[in-house]
Amino acid sequence: TSNQMWGGRFASGPAAVMEAINASIGFDRKLYSQDIRGSIAHSEMLAEKGIISAEDQKAIAHGLNTILREIEDGSFSFSTRLEDIHMNVEARLAELIGPAAGRLHTARSRNDQVAVDFRLWVKEEAQRTAQALKRLIGVFLDRADEHAATVMPGFTHLQSAQPVTFGHHCMAYVEMFARDLSRVKDAIERMDESPLGAAALAGTGFPIDRQMTAKALGFREPTRNSIDSVSDRDFALEFLSIASICGIHLSRLAEEIVIWSTPQFGFVRLSDQFSTGSSIMPQKKNPDAAELIRAKTGRVNGHLIGLLTVMKGLPLAYSKDMQEDKEAVFDAAESLDLMLTAMAGMVADMTINAEAMKKAAGSGYSTATDLADWLVRVLGLPFREAHHVTGKTVALAESRKVALEKLSLAELQSIHPDITDDVFSVLTVQKSVRSRTSYGGTAPTQVRQQIRAWRKRLARA
Ligand code: ARG
Repeated sequence: TSNQMWGGRFASGPAAVMEAINASIGFDRKLYSQDIRGSIAHSEMLAEKGIISAEDQKAIAHGLNTILREIEDGSFSFSTRLEDIHMNVEARLAELIGPAAGRLHTARSRNDQVAVDFRLWVKEEAQRTAQALKRLIGVFLDRADEHAATVMPGFTHLQSAQPVTFGHHCMAYVEMFARDLSRVKDAIERMDESPLGAAALAGTGFPIDRQMTAKALGFREPTRNSIDSVSDRDFALEFLSIASICGIHLSRLAEEIVIWSTPQFGFVRLSDQFSTGSSIMPQKKNPDAAELIRAKTGRVNGHLIGLLTVMKGLPLAYSKDMQEDKEAVFDAAESLDLMLTAMAGMVADMTINAEAMKKAAGSGYSTATDLADWLVRVLGLPFREAHHVTGKTVALAESRKVALEKLSLAELQSIHPDITDDVFSVLTVQKSVRSRTSYGGTAPTQVRQQIRAWRKRLARA
């Protein structure tokens, strides 16, 4: 049999494979609540403007609310033959209320319908992402507070570079996640426009009120160009790119946790709640959550590239290609939410081994820069010369197999005769971090100042 929506022009129904490739109900059923809200707002506006009768509107709204309940209690039966969520809902509405259902689609197309549904969904998801980011930032601020003065090695090239504090390292992630949060908020601002009323692409001759539907659906205002309204998926791409960038931050952190939790590093111990064992090796405690966060980032990045590639060659306005926008965003959103929540739990729960961190912080001649700085500050050497003298000192310590501060004064003076006892005061890791008081530096005083500033900023956000 031919289609009940466009059967007028069609003599036969679709081939089975046509139905299979065309249907989106398998995934766009996720938009049911947005679709029903959009339809109720549209019907109210149509009645307000006298385009449909108040009586029909009442029946439509009542029917749509019944459908909402049916979907939520699981009694609704979705049909692939009806292609997508929009037609599944409308067909059921016709069953429930009869011919009045046919008036709902006045001055509307599935093109603006899907655009408004999807925008609403992405906007709501972005708001959830913002909340999850705030919780994660809160966890990092707490851990930073606890460990503002806990010394750990700072790395470049994953080689010991200079001592830093664990609190400072945590605050680096606060900066990253706060940027992600600000990106989410920006994106929400931009997507906060209702495309409903753009109709197929050209607008409509019916005297609709787009301000009214925009307001009813919680959008700031209606979109300004009907062609753009049904063509645009920037909001989805922005969500995916934000998810990808945030994923990168989470993944780098996950990688660090994987490294830190090895017995070789032993900087952190994951709680039982956030690790797994091995079915063969009884001694193992594996950082699976961190690994999966790292892996899901790849998946989210893939969705961004996927949708960018779907969109790149599409002429204006709507093309069916755009139906492929949803699974990418749904899966990315679900993944990101898991990643943010699991990371928050894992980091809140993990035990910091301050002893191991401190020990490692002192290895690898990590205070060599402090020695060079001392030579500049106290002896007045040009930094390049100080660097050279320090290099020789490190080589000497290495040949003696001792740490810098374990060299004798005589040994140090064999490299530069003007070195005095005072130099030992800068060679410990504690002294090293405490001296880094430049704005944004790792000194505990600086770290605490940044924690306070962020707490204030977030309370306002
Ligand atoms: N299921 C479609 C989608 O997700 C709805 C829009 C269909 N519009 C159309 N002109 N075929 O994009």
